[in-house]
Amino acid sequence: MSVSSIIVSCAPRTLQKLPNITVMNDPVLEVRSLTKRFGSFIAVDSLNFELYPGEILGLLGVNGAGKTTAMSMVLGLITPDSGSIRAFGMDMPARRTQILRRINFCSAYTALPSNLLVWQNLDVFAGLYGVRNKKQRISELLEMFEITSLKNMLTGHLSSGETARVNFCKALLNQPDVLLMDEPTASLDPDIADKVRRIIRQVQQERGMAVLYTSHNMRDVEAVCDRVIFMHKGRILYQGTPTEVAERNSERSLEQLFIRVARSGDVECIPSVTDKDKKETS
Ligand SMILES: Nc1ncnc2c1ncn2[C@@H]1O[C@H](COP(=O)(O)OP(=O)(O)OP(=O)(O)O)[C@@H](O)[C@H]1O
Ligand SMILES: [Mg+2]
Repeated sequence: MSVSSIIVSCAPRTLQKLPNITVMNDPVLEVRSLTKRFGSFIAVDSLNFELYPGEILGLLGVNGAGKTTAMSMVLGLITPDSGSIRAFGMDMPARRTQILRRINFCSAYTALPSNLLVWQNLDVFAGLYGVRNKKQRISELLEMFEITSLKNMLTGHLSSGETARVNFCKALLNQPDVLLMDEPTASLDPDIADKVRRIIRQVQQERGMAVLYTSHNMRDVEAVCDRVIFMHKGRILYQGTPTEVAERNSERSLEQLFIRVARSGDVECIPSVTDKDKKETS
């Protein structure tokens, strides 16, 4: 199955569920020729991809492949050297405020203010996002991630897995249309990681939320991602469903492919052709 047919097969599922997105088949995120250099080093090199409503897209790659840099550019935290980012049909950074209202982010490595209680942290973020019924929304999320008992704890006293769960609550406070998750399950025990994957799937199915997801846990990726982009040295090496990417490379699993790429050093990268480019050339 081609990437475009996967996208087409994903689209009807989201059509009924997303009345607030006007043109259902349009991507919620379009990245074109995105490039970031740090001195002479190219961290992200002419990256092209699209994220569709209701899709969970995995961004994979060895340490230093450029995944976090790409996400940081989408969030407007790092300025690209060239290329463009459009979200919900609006240009970044020109419409940054409107775009960021509908996006959220979480990572295993994000530190929340440590001197605030858990509920105070969530209350501050809820205020920043303009969340209505803050108290109720915070209670729902604490319950969803099974951390209601931690709400009066100092955030700085939480374990890393507990902090990650507070981060998930923060990330879902504004009911984002696009959620960027950078190694979200890195510090979670297998039970909580499984629950978090189910919650992501549930929110994605109920609200048509699109997710850009990085993880070094290939089982995690296979379980949660509809489609993956395998990055190497800032460029796209492979893309497709997790099964397609593994099988196209005669590997039995994404993990085996990952290990081969990591150990083989210089791998030939394909130019990152987008779905749109394919349509234009066909
Ligand atoms: N501010 C910076 N200055 C210089 N180099 C940077 C900077 N930020 C990132 N890099 C480099 O860019 C490359 C890509 O980094 P990035 O964090 O995007 O990788 P990643 O794919 O997220 O890796 P990981 O899996 O380890 O999280 C790395 O080689 C990193 O050292
Ligand atoms: Mg990273």
